[in-house]
Parts: sequence; C-alpha cells; structure tokens
Amino acid sequence: MAPPRPQALFIPLAHLLILGIVNPLTEAKVPAVIVFGDSSVDSGNNNMIATVLKSNFEPYGRDFYGARPTGRFSNGRVPPDFISEAFGIKASVPAYLDPAYNISDFSTGVCFASAGTGYDNTTSHVLNVIPLWKELEYYKEYQVKLRQYLGNDQANYVLSEALYIVSLGTNDFLENYYLIPVGGRGGQFSLKQYKDFLVGLASNFIQEIHALGARKISLTGLPPMGCLPLERTANFFRGPGSCNEEYNTAARDFNGKLRIAVGKLNKQLQGLKVVFSDPYDLFLQIITKPSSFGFEVAERACCATGLYEMSYLCNEHSPFTCTDASKFVFWDSFHPTERTNMILSDALLKSILLPAFA
Ligand SMILES: *[C@@H]1O[C@H](CO)[C@@H](O)[C@H](O)[C@H]1NC(C)=O
Ligand SMILES: *[C@@H]1O[C@H](CO)[C@@H](O)[C@H](O)[C@H]1NC(C)=O
Repeated sequence: MAPPRPQALFIPLAHLLILGIVNPLTEAKVPAVIVFGDSSVDSGNNNMIATVLKSNFEPYGRDFYGARPTGRFSNGRVPPDFISEAFGIKASVPAYLDPAYNISDFSTGVCFASAGTGYDNTTSHVLNVIPLWKELEYYKEYQVKLRQYLGNDQANYVLSEALYIVSLGTNDFLENYYLIPVGGRGGQFSLKQYKDFLVGLASNFIQEIHALGARKISLTGLPPMGCLPLERTANFFRGPGSCNEEYNTAARDFNGKLRIAVGKLNKQLQGLKVVFSDPYDLFLQIITKPSSFGFEVAERACCATGLYEMSYLCNEHSPFTCTDASKFVFWDSFHPTERTNMILSDALLKSILLPAFA
C-alpha cells in the first residue's frame, strides 16, 4: 500500500492556516476596512482608468513603503491606511483595481475610491474618473467574490462588521460648482441648493450601503478647502496667498448639514452606527498654527513650486520640490502630506472611531 502523499495532508492544513489568518471571529472587532471616496482616500484605482488625474509616478509615494508611487495622492500613506493599522488589521488598504492584489488581500480591506470624483455624477465627468455609483457597482462585485472566497457566513460577518470609510465632496465644490459656473452646477443651483442636493446624495449612499449590509460607517466631512494651496494661489483677487473664506464657509456649512443628516440616518436605519468624522477644525488649526504641530510651511506645498502643481505637474523634473515633506502641511497643491494625514487620522481615531467601533 502506498504511503499517504504528503500533499494530501498538507492541503487541509494549509486551508486551516489560511482560515486562521483571515478568520474574523477570532480577531479584532473590525475585520476589514472598506473605502469609498475621492483622492483623500484613493490608494491607486485611478492608475487603471483613462484620466489625467494620476499620481503613480515619482515623487509621489517617496515616503511610502519601498518609496513606491502607488497612486496615493501624497508622499506616503493616506488616512484609511492609518485607520486600518490602528484597528489591528494591516498598514495599508489596497485599491480594488490594482492587479497586484486579489480577493485574499481584499478580505481584510479594500478601496474603491477614485481621485477627482464626487457625490454628484457630473463631478466625475470633469476629469473622467469613477463616479460614486460605479464605486458601488465594484463593491457589489466584491461582495460576490468575497462570498465565493470565504463562504456565505464568514463573508456576511466581514461585510457587516467592517468599518466603511466614506470620504468625498471637495471636488463637487472645487472642480465642479465653483469651477464651472456657466452651463454646469454653478448655473443650475444656488449654493444652498447645491449643498442640500449633495447632502441628499450622501444620505442616499449611506442608505444604499446599509441595504447591502454595511453597519459601521464613518462619513468624513470636508477640510477647510479654501486653504488648499491651489485655492490660495487662485485667490489673487482677494489678496495673494490668503485662504478663500467663501470656500471655507461653504465647507463648514456643508459639514453642519452632513452632521444633521448623520443623526437622522442613525435613527432611521436598523442596526446602523454611522459617525461623522469632521477634520475641519483640527485641519484649520494645523494650517493657521503649523509650528505648534512641528510644521514649517502651510501656505504652499512641498512638490514643485507648491503653488499650483498636482498630478502630472508634480513630477520628478521639478528642481523646487522640498527635501523633507514632514515639514510641510501639504504635499501637492491639493493634498496633505503623510504627516498631516497621520495627525488628522490619529485625532479622529482617538476621539471618534476607536470609541465607537473598537
Ligand atoms: C492571491 O495572490 C496570492 C499571491 O499572489 C496567491 O498566493 C493566492 O493564491 C491568490 N489567491 C486567490 C484566492 O486568488
Ligand atoms: C447617477 O448616475 C447613475 C447611473 O447612470 C444613476 O443611476 C443615478 O440615478 C444618477 N444620480 C443622479 C442623482 O442623477
């Protein structure tokens, strides 16, 4: 009689090991981080689509693991990476469209975000990026793959216990409403109407992912978007280099409306816990008092001249790019450095996310 083949013993053992690694029942309360949104959280989906809004080249990612440009719009990690790590999962959340990853990686975290997108469908058309409804289609496809990979029970566990991060809205104002006043949303809606329209879309989106099984959600508010270096540069009518207070006011008002919507959703939807993660006040403190946070420069970005460059204009050929990004609040003219992302994420984790979900 032939002895049992070693492979026959090895395969079930490997199976058990794999299940042990991914078994959420024996792990942290949050088994996965699932991300929807724009460049504030995109970890590389735009690399795979036909848009000019990309960042998968140097010097992007120069402080990331392996000094790798991944498609994150920063020199290093973005908030979902820090949040995933703080929940004891993994140190970075892979992009769904990145061919280097598969469902085994995505079972503990996946990002559907696309730089340049917004709540409003027409915002995604401006730079030909992934609209939010399409991010949701990818999420549905992910659910099918996850059920095939983990089985129904375990997949349902992951989907209902995962932390969902939803972070977008800046582009609806800056790339759409204010940028295209004629023929675009700026001509169709008053500012108040547009804010209410977007808050309605955000509420609908939360309802849709709740209906698909999401139970733990962090909805992110807008930053002080009038102080992004690009907006300061464009603000020359009101005084070169000053923050655009009109944009900051719009962000604060919008955040106030989102906060109210979050309160309503918690009452309406069964089993849902959604928190409002508002980065505005701390971000504005960092910008107005950078030295209290160990920064040296807040009004212009590290990459290139720091006044207007992002995406392809922030590239390895600029002689002006700073050498130490950790002294800068902004990496490119529209996006924070890794260090700013870390400070904002830590604060949200301590004050809101860990108390609510850990
Ligand atoms: C995922 O990729 C890893 C490494 O490339 C591979 O070992 C594994 O078999 C893949 N898993 C699935 C489910 O495709
Ligand atoms: C956005 O586009 C999708 C797909 O075409 C559509 O289902 C959805 O109703 C649109 N949303 C709005 C608010 O127009």
